[in-house]
Amino acid sequence: MQSFTMNESFPLNAWYAVAWDVELKNELLPRTICNKALVLYQKKDGTPVALEDACWHRLLPLSKGSLRGDTVVCGYHGLEYKSDGRCSYMPSQETINPSACVRSYPVIQKYRFIWVWMGNPALADEKLIPDMHWNDDPEWAGDGQMIKVHCNYRLVVDNLMDLTHETFVHSESIGDRNVAEAPFDVHYDEKTATVTRWMKGIQPPPFWKGQLNRVHKHEGDVDRWQIIKFEAPCTVNIDVGVAIAGTGAPEGDRSQGVNGYVLNTITPSTNQTCLYFWAFSRNYNLKDQSNTTELKNGVAHIFSQDEDILEAQQKAINENPDREFYNLNIDAGAMWARRITNKMVEEEQETKIDAL
Ligand code: FES
Ligand SMILES: [Fe+2]
Repeated sequence: MQSFTMNESFPLNAWYAVAWDVELKNELLPRTICNKALVLYQKKDGTPVALEDACWHRLLPLSKGSLRGDTVVCGYHGLEYKSDGRCSYMPSQETINPSACVRSYPVIQKYRFIWVWMGNPALADEKLIPDMHWNDDPEWAGDGQMIKVHCNYRLVVDNLMDLTHETFVHSESIGDRNVAEAPFDVHYDEKTATVTRWMKGIQPPPFWKGQLNRVHKHEGDVDRWQIIKFEAPCTVNIDVGVAIAGTGAPEGDRSQGVNGYVLNTITPSTNQTCLYFWAFSRNYNLKDQSNTTELKNGVAHIFSQDEDILEAQQKAINENPDREFYNLNIDAGAMWARRITNKMVEEEQETKIDAL
């Protein structure tokens, strides 16, 4: 059995979302990612930058300093750093110590998020960014938020991999007995785990009843689906929706339905905190901004209910450090997610040991 320490750890060789694109400006933004303090900013030409948030000289966080154009000026004794982390100015001396630099991290803007690679820069391949294209695809519309949750990131992944909790945590919006009682399938491979659940010929819960009625003026029974796809180490994209019952959605015809994607990527900040980026995208009423706002507010409310549960769970875990989790059938998806991530962490540690 693996210790909880293993179960709360994270791989470094992975892309992690650190900010929404709109959060990044030509100003210094501090963020802690994988227990490491970073300072982020956008250069004048729009390129994102991520540097270690500790001055080479006396370690003052650079985020306490200022930006002059694309140059970071330390707020203590004025050392200056270029966007690649190299020191370009030292007060009262002409020669710059050649070792004077701070670490810079690979950073990319994609799918409306800023992604940072915390591990070996040689392995930072853009193709490894998890697919979240629904967040900026013109055929989809939506929006989302980032919330700082006081729990280990894996508890959020667990929460998303098992949606039976909707029945108990979100009963007034998306949860009902159908979710807790419907059978489901789990598939997995090296990098992903997928949980598929179909609930056929049911009464939709209030949230979906409202959405379907907006588009198809239908109030009767529906076929409802939840297809939850985890991609290691911390991204969970959920294909959700309802269609008028018996119109062929389980066989692939969703034309009589409404479809959304709940996009989630949960970045470890410290061992006990995470940055939870989420968005809800839909493929109907694309130009209807009021629908976007309504959905964003609705999902934000639902996730605040999760936040409450997750923080209370983390507190109980801390108070009971020797206790292991029990697993039920409903935890199959979450267990695969944990196993796949553990394998990534183990392989990374083995590579480090080999390199010694
Ligand atoms: S600590 Fe940054 S210049 Fe001295
Ligand atoms: Fe939830």
